[in-house]
Amino acid sequence: MPCTLLIQNCGQLLTMRSAGSGPLRGSFLQDWELVGDAYLACTDDKIEAYGPMSSLSVSLIGPETQVLDAGGGVVMPGLVECHTHLVFAGNRAHEFQRKLRGESYLDILASGGGILSTVRATRAASEEELLAGALHQLEGFRRYGVTTLEAKSGYGLDRDTELRLVRVAREAGRQQAVRVVPTFLGAHVVPPEYKGRPADYLDFLVDEVLPELRGEAEFVDIFSEEGAFSVADSRHYLQRAKELGFQLKIHAEQLHDLGGSAMAAELGAVSVDHCDYLSAADAARVAAQARTVAVLLPLVPLFLRQQQYASGRQLIKQGVPVALSTDFNPGSCPSKNLWLAQSVACLNMGFTPREALAAVTINAAWAINRQHDCGSLEPGKRADVLVLNVRSYEELPYWLGENPVRQVIIGGQVQPE
Ligand code: NIG
Ligand code: FE
Repeated sequence: MPCTLLIQNCGQLLTMRSAGSGPLRGSFLQDWELVGDAYLACTDDKIEAYGPMSSLSVSLIGPETQVLDAGGGVVMPGLVECHTHLVFAGNRAHEFQRKLRGESYLDILASGGGILSTVRATRAASEEELLAGALHQLEGFRRYGVTTLEAKSGYGLDRDTELRLVRVAREAGRQQAVRVVPTFLGAHVVPPEYKGRPADYLDFLVDEVLPELRGEAEFVDIFSEEGAFSVADSRHYLQRAKELGFQLKIHAEQLHDLGGSAMAAELGAVSVDHCDYLSAADAARVAAQARTVAVLLPLVPLFLRQQQYASGRQLIKQGVPVALSTDFNPGSCPSKNLWLAQSVACLNMGFTPREALAAVTINAAWAINRQHDCGSLEPGKRADVLVLNVRSYEELPYWLGENPVRQVIIGGQVQPE
């Protein structure tokens, strides 16, 4: 049967397939499949077949087949961006100046700025403005080769605005090609209305907001940190979210080692995110839950001028499955460049280029429970594919800050440039 899209002359086809089950860990992070001088065939929105050019059967090509020549470039799965705060209003350029003068992230938050300043701007924005902003950001992500993206709420901190943020994320997913996976982060920080009463705020979220989100958001996330929510409160909240049928995520060990990551992993969280201050002992507890992915965010310590980066090398050695993401948001990472995140992961977290690629594709898919659908090039998965401008994957983290994407294919459709 002829296919609908044939990509030929792929100098290196990175399928990201690997032996072993579950998210890739240990040496499997390096061991994924690379096919030299290859083709990739897609039918409608799915991957059909791939193999060496020498085995390309003429029966795959018919009058309706669109043929794309990769010109010897690298071809790989679309990037999976598994941790973003996509929907917000305004920006925090003014706080960048404060930070450059030496104020810390938590000092700015404690003074009513930081996340709370974005909350004020977001509450004041209309649904149309928020949607326009999200669509603008998604367009930027698509140009960088992102084909699936997780989007958190968390700048509303009241019932109506939080529901609006989830609605906007879903609507943005419908209006353009990048697939959007919404997460509820109403437990981002304590809103002014509940100042000093974090447990009451979490009760309110469980009683009055989570029930409205069934079928709207798959994941429930919480920021477990000094100045946000304690580990004890986070545990109680996540447990109740789990009982309501949500899957769990956590922001933890970003600025202090409090124990949130191990706690959430033991509750069965799909991911524990940040992990810059995760101890080796707690990493072992995360590794024991073979399903939980540690999502590392290397652009965040860079942007916050923090010396401490998650110890990627150590986590990989301990058998923790790792993914990488930008954490795109107006406060701690105003960048959508997941290629730069890979470079910084290699430079400051001890990743190899091969490990970094697994961390932004198949393991990132595991971190948002989309492993059956995207993150690798396998027959039956969605045809989300990138044709790149480089001839070897080793160049990817090397060209610092460049965008290597030549063409983006989403669900079998070649996207406009
Ligand atoms: O993942 N750390 C908490 N939340 C976000 C930052 C949000 C913000 O500063 O606006 C993060 O880094
Ligand atoms: Fe985040």
